[in-house]
Amino acid sequence: MADKICTELLPLLVLSGLLFPGTVKFAFSTGGIASGCFGSEREALAKLKGAFADPSGWLTSWVRKGCCKWRGIVCSNLTGRVVEINLHNPYVDDNLSGNLKPGQALGGEISPSLLDLKELKYLDLSMNNFGGTKLPRFIGSLKQLRYLNLSGASFGGMIPLSLRNLSRLQYLDLSDGFAESSQNDLRWLPGLSSLRYLNLAAIDLSKAADHWLRAINSLPSLKELHLPNCFLSKLPLSLPFINVTLLEVLDLSNNNFNSTLPWWLFNLTRLIHLDLNSNNFGGPLPKSLGSLCDLRVLKLSLNDITGEITDFIDGLARCNDSKLEILDLGNNRLSGNLPDSLGNLKKLRYLQFLLNSFHGSIPRTIGNMSSLKEFYVADNSMSGIPESFGQLSTLVAVDLSENLWEGVVTERHLANLSSVTDLDLYKRSINISLAFNIAPGWIPPFKLRFLTIWSCQLGPQFPTWLRNQNDLKTVVLRNARISGTIPDWFLQLNLQLDELDFAFNGLTGMPPTSLMFVDDQSNVDLRSNQYEGPLPMWSSNVTTLYLNDNRFSGPIPPNIGELMPYLTDLDISQNALNGTIPLSIGNMANLTTLVISDNYLSGEIPQFWSNLSLLYVLDMLSNSLSGSIPSEVSFLSSLKFFILSNNNLSGKLPSSLQNCSSLYSLDLGENKFSGNIPAWIAESIPSLLILRLRSNSFTGEIPSEICHLSNLHIVDLSHNSLSGPIPPCIGNLTGLKVELTDADTVIYQGQLTVVAKGRFVQYGQSILYLVNSLDLSDNRLPGEIPEAMTNLLRLWTLNLSMTGRLPMDIGNLEWLETLDLSSNNLSGLLPPSMTALTKLNHLNLAYNDLSGKIPTTNQFLTLNDPSIYEGNVGLCGIPLPMSCPGDEKQPQSPDDGGRNSKSEDGGDDLEHIWLFLSIGLGFCVGFWGVCGTLIVKKSWREAYFGYVDRMKNKLIALIAAEKPEKIGRIEG
Ligand SMILES: *[C@@H]1O[C@H](CO)[C@@H](O)[C@H](O)[C@H]1NC(C)=O
Ligand SMILES: *[C@@H]1O[C@H](CO)[C@@H](O)[C@H](O)[C@H]1NC(C)=O
Ligand SMILES: *[C@@H]1O[C@H](CO)[C@@H](O)[C@H](O)[C@H]1NC(C)=O
Repeated sequence: MADKICTELLPLLVLSGLLFPGTVKFAFSTGGIASGCFGSEREALAKLKGAFADPSGWLTSWVRKGCCKWRGIVCSNLTGRVVEINLHNPYVDDNLSGNLKPGQALGGEISPSLLDLKELKYLDLSMNNFGGTKLPRFIGSLKQLRYLNLSGASFGGMIPLSLRNLSRLQYLDLSDGFAESSQNDLRWLPGLSSLRYLNLAAIDLSKAADHWLRAINSLPSLKELHLPNCFLSKLPLSLPFINVTLLEVLDLSNNNFNSTLPWWLFNLTRLIHLDLNSNNFGGPLPKSLGSLCDLRVLKLSLNDITGEITDFIDGLARCNDSKLEILDLGNNRLSGNLPDSLGNLKKLRYLQFLLNSFHGSIPRTIGNMSSLKEFYVADNSMSGIPESFGQLSTLVAVDLSENLWEGVVTERHLANLSSVTDLDLYKRSINISLAFNIAPGWIPPFKLRFLTIWSCQLGPQFPTWLRNQNDLKTVVLRNARISGTIPDWFLQLNLQLDELDFAFNGLTGMPPTSLMFVDDQSNVDLRSNQYEGPLPMWSSNVTTLYLNDNRFSGPIPPNIGELMPYLTDLDISQNALNGTIPLSIGNMANLTTLVISDNYLSGEIPQFWSNLSLLYVLDMLSNSLSGSIPSEVSFLSSLKFFILSNNNLSGKLPSSLQNCSSLYSLDLGENKFSGNIPAWIAESIPSLLILRLRSNSFTGEIPSEICHLSNLHIVDLSHNSLSGPIPPCIGNLTGLKVELTDADTVIYQGQLTVVAKGRFVQYGQSILYLVNSLDLSDNRLPGEIPEAMTNLLRLWTLNLSMTGRLPMDIGNLEWLETLDLSSNNLSGLLPPSMTALTKLNHLNLAYNDLSGKIPTTNQFLTLNDPSIYEGNVGLCGIPLPMSCPGDEKQPQSPDDGGRNSKSEDGGDDLEHIWLFLSIGLGFCVGFWGVCGTLIVKKSWREAYFGYVDRMKNKLIALIAAEKPEKIGRIEG
């Protein structure tokens, strides 16, 4: 909507006669008396046509005698000569998406015969495709030109210097007209002293870095200047003399300016439209804008502007009759309260404060903003909504998401919002601090279309104020403490929905299967409720379906794939479903996510994968599936997460698994798989991050090829019957030597259990990238721990079943926090380097044949549970009862000394790490419910945030720029 307002405004300037009272008219108008036209001019036009490529035959009318009637030609009433050529490509106007069919544009070359049109004043070749040919220099000889529009015409090379001869030119639009690769200067500009309109959008002016402003400042008639996306970076903070005093429109958006805001800009007292968005302007806003009372549009979003806005808004509000319609301060670092003076901006239609640090209450005066249509204050720290908010009868769209709202919303806060159609109030944190308390009989004055409320208390009753909302398209009432059943009146509103999300409530009864979904990419999310009974199904327009974490039971309907063939996401995990996996799931050719974990599904995994080549996540964890992995798994070429753990599956790993070559996670733990760990795994699935084969019946040696899996971070081969030596090259597993820094690559669906700290720890995806673990315990791996294993510097967890001696350099594993070597045949002395394991907080050496004195420094001060050392006859010293030879006389004092000197460092360090980790875990556990499947994968992200798309009034670019970071924040 903002765009609409702007585009409404701009042509206003052009059309209000400011520029070309006579020439901006339809190109098809006739040429008056001179319907004949001059022979020489007709010839010139014929040559022009000859040089053009005209695949769509636009110029077929250019054959008859009267050239003044040819398409796009206008002749002078007085002289009969051609004054205007308008060959703007009209297809563009129909084709907003910009997918021009190349055949429809004019191309070829511009013939020099143009110069024979001595009175040509107007030339428009915009939106054609000259395929990178150079703009000919002779253009500069068209001395009579007043209007030249070459925008989007795909010329190559540079803007010719000869353009400076067009001293009568008033309107010049070269936007998007030249290849990106050509760096231009502006030496041609100062000659154009009549220029009123200049648009050089998306032309690389980096060669004009030093002189662009001087060149512009030499154009005293300039009223409208568009230089967005021009690779400009220098904007002087002071200007000795402003010559462009007539400037009304200034667009410098999307450049690289990184200074503070130059305050001379605000001396341009005629400005109507100022757009500085998407730069890196820093520092505060100017204190006063007192003289800019004509300003209608001010856009400063996507900069780095700091400080409060009170003085600035006060300044704007001091104008007698403020004309400001659009104020966009989104995505900066502004803070403080929103000032009361906002209420004086009576013409303001669009107010954007997204992504700043504003706090406090929305000012009560907001009720006076009698033109406000759009109000966006999402992603701030605002806390209060005044009742006067309910007076905004013009308000159409409002986004209050991601703030710290407190208190109670009553019908008074909504009383006169008679125009509102879009209401967004989501908060991804599960904490609820805002409650709706609306009288049961209240009938709202609005008809909402898009309603998104997360983490606000609406319940316990289903909100009765929706009773007359029969225009709803999107209904998201998530984590709203609603319990009981969805009332019949809601089901009978005849809604035409594209999204229904009642996740994280306490809903019971019949799932709302009668609701109609009209958008062919509709979303249904009822996860984490208390629905029982058979798994509900919807129509084929539903493409994402989340029913997980309910109490659905019985079979998955066998015809699910016929009912909803276009599903992309299906999560029915954590229910009580039984029976077999229906074959018809194989029909869902768009499926990317299939999560059926934590049910009672049994039988074999069907051979149904030949159409599922887009499948990205397959999670069947914790069911009772039996049989083997179907060989058809080879069709799953997009699969990233393959999780079959905790079932009754058996057989060997099929060699067809080699085709799943982009797997991140192969988790087959807790099954009955047997045979060898295939050597091809390394070559075929080099992307593997997680290899979990725990608790199966694998035999044979660990193939040394596994050492080539350089991304492996979690290796769990424990509880199998593997034999032979551990390949010494295991010390080369580079994934265990480095920290995964790019959290984005460890996108993970579901959870993974890693044995750490002596117990099972569930890691969510948020911190999975921090986890490095190697667990080979409970196998038949003879021999010694390879010395090279001490190269795995980033290892957090090491569980081994070994014999022989501990490597002397084990102290190199400085990140190790879990070391479990219990019940092995380890012998020999404890390596002194173990005291360097300062992050160790879980150690188990029990039941070996180790000997020597238990260290008493660093971490060993805290590892003082005797049971972790017991069953080693040769170990002595604290905390064991037997003291070491020669130690008898030593009292506690050496320990105390050690504690004072060294342990503090170790302890602090450890606490730091664990604080970090437990924050990570707490955050993850807390969020998991809400964000469990909000994965950093584009299509999912879109599925969840897709409503942004239809809210064109949001700053889409802002969201896009911000989203990855935010998800990263939520998920760790
Ligand atoms: C601006 O105007 C002043 C005074 O008319 C003139 O001296 C100066 O050269 C002009 N600046 C530019 C950049 O043309
Ligand atoms: C801008 O305005 C201020 C105060 O009105 C004035 O002092 C200053 O000289 C002006 N700057 C320019 C470049 O005109
Ligand atoms: C599924 O569970 C229901 C009871 O919950 C039981 O009656 C039915 O026989 C089960 N079906 C299968 C195939 O195990």
